[in-house]
Amino acid sequence: MAIFDNLKRFDAYPKTLDDFRVKTFSGAAVSIIAIIIMVILFSSELVYFLSTDVHEELFVDTARNEKLRINLDITFPKMPCVYLSLDVMDISGENEQNIDHDVFRQRLDASGNKIYNGQEEIDELGESHADNVADKALDGLKDLDPNRCESCYGAEDTEGQCCNTCAQVQEAYRKKGWAFRSGQGIAQCEREGYDAMMEAQEREGCQLYGHLEVNKVAGNFHIAPGRSFEQHNMHIHDMQSFGREKLAKFNLTHVINHLSFGIDYPDRVNSLDGHVEVPNEYGAIMYQYFLKVVPTRYRFLSQTEIDTNQYSVTMHQREIRPDQGTSGLPGLFFMYDISPMKIQLTQSSRSFFHFLTGLCAIIGGVYTVAGMIDGFLYHGIRTLKAKQNMGKLG
Ligand SMILES: *[C@@H]1O[C@H](CO)[C@@H](O)[C@H](O)[C@H]1NC(C)=O
Repeated sequence: MAIFDNLKRFDAYPKTLDDFRVKTFSGAAVSIIAIIIMVILFSSELVYFLSTDVHEELFVDTARNEKLRINLDITFPKMPCVYLSLDVMDISGENEQNIDHDVFRQRLDASGNKIYNGQEEIDELGESHADNVADKALDGLKDLDPNRCESCYGAEDTEGQCCNTCAQVQEAYRKKGWAFRSGQGIAQCEREGYDAMMEAQEREGCQLYGHLEVNKVAGNFHIAPGRSFEQHNMHIHDMQSFGREKLAKFNLTHVINHLSFGIDYPDRVNSLDGHVEVPNEYGAIMYQYFLKVVPTRYRFLSQTEIDTNQYSVTMHQREIRPDQGTSGLPGLFFMYDISPMKIQLTQSSRSFFHFLTGLCAIIGGVYTVAGMIDGFLYHGIRTLKAKQNMGKLG
C-alpha cells in the first residue's frame, strides 16, 4: 500500500533492529535510578494534585445584625474561682445582662487538677458562686425561720430590706460602694463559714471556659478579680474587699488554652492559643489584648459555606501599684474590634490537565536526561577501554 508506505515517513520513533542493541550494566543502573526518581516525582505531583487549593478574596463586609460568638478557655493556676468574674460590654452599651453566655468556672487545686466535689464544681457565670455556696450552707440550716428578715448591717437600699444570706449582705455592700473585707461580725457570713471558705480556696486555681454571644460590634470583655457592679452608670469592680496587701499577693499567671471567634475551619490559626503569661516579680498586672477580628467566609469544595472569623492580636501589660499611683484594674482585658473587610476563602481542586502535563514532563524529562547520562557513560567507558587496550598494545 503506497499510502501507508508514505505515512511511515512521519514516524518520529524509528526502530532499530534488536541485533544492534547492546545492554550494559551502566545502562541498567541508570534506568533503575531513573525509575526511582520518576516514582518520587510522581508521588509528590500526586500529593499536590490531591490537595485542595485555597483561594482568597477580599471585599467589604455587608452583613448586618450578625452575632459574634467568642469561644474561650483560660486557666489561672494561681487565682481561685471565687475571685474571678467575667464581664462583657460592647459599644452599643449592652452589658452582660443582655448577652447570651455559657461560661463556666472550674475550680483547680494547687497542682492544677480539677476539683470534683461529688460533682464537677462548675457554675454558670451569671449566677454568683457565693449564692450557690450559701444555698448549700443553708441546706444544713433548715431550722432557720424561712420568713426571717435579717439585717443588712446598714447597707439597706430601702427601708425594711432583708439580707438573709452572706451573699445578700455582700450585694448590699457592693451597691452602696462599701468595702466588704471579711465576714467577721456578720452573723449570716459566720453561720455560712464564709471566711473559712475564702481561706480554703486561697491556694486554688481556676479554669474559665465556655462561649459568649455578643453583637458584632466593637467591644470588650474582661476577666478580673472582684465582683463587678453598676453604679451611676459606671462599671465598677469591687476591689476594695481585697485590700492592698492582697493585691500585692495576686498572681495573674494565665494560660490561654483557646480563644477564637466563630466556628472553626480547616487550618485556622488562633494566635493566642497556648499563650502563657507568668509575672515574675509582681503579680497584679493589667494585661491588655487588642484583637482585630476579621470576618471570614470559608467555602468548601462541596459548596457549603461557613461564616466565621479570624483575628490578629497585639498586647500590652502594666503593673498596677496603687501605692505608686498607677490606677487601673489587674486582670485580663480583651478589646476587640471588627474589621470592615471580609475575607472569602474558597477551596478548589487542582486542575487534572495540569496534573497530566506534570506527569508527561516528569516521564519525558527523566527519560531524556537518563538517556543522555547513559550515552555519556557508555561512550566514556568505551573510550577508556580503547585507550587501555592501546596502552597494553603499545
Ligand atoms: C506566679 O506563679 C508562677 C507559677 O507558679 C510563678 O512562676 C511566679 O513566680 C509567680 N509570680 C509571682 C509574682 O508570685
